[in-house]
Amino acid sequence: MEYFVKSGNPEKQRVACVIVGIFDRRNTTEAAETIDKASDGLLGSIMRRGDMDGKLGRTVVLHNVSGVFCDRVLLVGLGKERDFDEAAFRKVHSAAARALRNTGAIDAVSYLTHLPVKGRDYQWNVLQAALATGTEFYRFDEMRGEKSREDIVLPKIERLTFDVPRRSDLPAGEKGLQEAQAITEGVSLAKRLSNLPGNICTPTFLAQTAIDLGKKYEFTVKILEESDMEALGMGALLSVSRGSRQPAKLIIMEYLKGTAGEAPIALVGKGLTFDAGGISIKPAAKMDEMKFDMCGGASVIGAFAAMAELKLSINVIGVVAASENLPDGAASKPGDIVTSMAGITIEVLNTDAEGRLILCDALTYTERTYDPRICIDMATLTGACVVALGSHASGLFSNQPGLARQLLAAGEQIGDRAWELPLWNEYDGQIKSEFADIANIATVGAGEAGAIVAAMFLHRFTKKMKWAHLDIAGTAWHGKAATGRPVPLLTQYLINVAAKRGDD
Ligand code: BES
Ligand code: MN
Ligand code: ZN
Repeated sequence: MEYFVKSGNPEKQRVACVIVGIFDRRNTTEAAETIDKASDGLLGSIMRRGDMDGKLGRTVVLHNVSGVFCDRVLLVGLGKERDFDEAAFRKVHSAAARALRNTGAIDAVSYLTHLPVKGRDYQWNVLQAALATGTEFYRFDEMRGEKSREDIVLPKIERLTFDVPRRSDLPAGEKGLQEAQAITEGVSLAKRLSNLPGNICTPTFLAQTAIDLGKKYEFTVKILEESDMEALGMGALLSVSRGSRQPAKLIIMEYLKGTAGEAPIALVGKGLTFDAGGISIKPAAKMDEMKFDMCGGASVIGAFAAMAELKLSINVIGVVAASENLPDGAASKPGDIVTSMAGITIEVLNTDAEGRLILCDALTYTERTYDPRICIDMATLTGACVVALGSHASGLFSNQPGLARQLLAAGEQIGDRAWELPLWNEYDGQIKSEFADIANIATVGAGEAGAIVAAMFLHRFTKKMKWAHLDIAGTAWHGKAATGRPVPLLTQYLINVAAKRGDD
């Protein structure tokens, strides 16, 4: 689908569909009013008859409306005008996109982008409208058989225009659209990698995807093999892949298009292409969902795609630690002690707490190789984070209050929110080991605060960096579908840094 931004009158659009909003209690919008006048009060009579009550997200398609040039008018309920906020704005655009999918219209103009949202401008409106639409139009069908794929009915819509009130709003709208398209590209790539099953999306597949992306956008990609990791002393990472036939990969992307020599921002992702738990094996129910345990890594790759699409002038390093975690004769056993690249010894009391084991070596490698000015890691790290925050917010931890603030703000801005949890020293005492420097799970307490304990473990390896950790266990997928989060948050953060609005 192609997207455009324009400014024009709703009754004069020669397109298959014009989309306008209606608040409840018969409170219309300017665009709806214009259509109503042109059609001798059609919208008013539809509301009086009770076919459109203006409830948030409700949609009605009208055909053969007199006095207008378009073939159809799609009415979208906006809810109560005084309740109309950012979430409602996104909802109406999703509802409109869903309704549009089911029409035969090949082109449409939406006036929902006119709707004012407190504190936001037309760049934000168009960006959010295009993002919500992109999300509605995403489908993952590539694993269906050839025959069933042929039977899939594709939406007819080819061109969607977001209207802005004045010609002077066009540059802002264009900017919003461009950012939305880049973010949608990154989100879709992250979703695809995440939705693909573990037998296809292996560490090698992730590495190849990064290599291809580097070729497409002209940035450098390096892959460290297990022998390289051995030489670097990555005993923690390698202890996780030991039980797998798929070789682990450390995927390194170098996007250096900012000031030469300036320290980069580093993004580090957990890329567990399947987490069975290892010898501490997981229960069978929902184990299939552990193909999503590479969503952190996918979001690093997705953010690189978005950033490269936008040609951001910025230095960014991406590191994805990719491995499987399976039970096997060669797999790590509870009680095994491994030595991390940092020299810290770790007692592996639970082989299912593997994310922190691969991340600690990836973080040490990142710190030593690139001395980044900022390091952000993302990982589907703990079930405990899902308990704490559910599916709406990613867990955020940082040793740098300014960085935390910028990430929280970027999340609010784009609608991919995080919520901060503490990294207090008191929690550090919970990872004491009887034999090694630390244990990979809490040995004190009854398993409470698991998301924080995991973050404290990582904190042991990130003391020298300005660092933030995003636990995306509750946000990276919903049901059986990847969300592409936190690609929007990361991209917005990088956009803000590149614009020098949010420097460290
Ligand atoms: N990948 C899981 C975390 C996870 C579980 C994410 C369920 C989303 C849904 C991680 O590797 C893991 O198994 N963590 C353990 C840690 C525990 C053994 C301390 C967990 O959360 O149960
Ligand atoms: Mn695990
Ligand atoms: Zn895991």
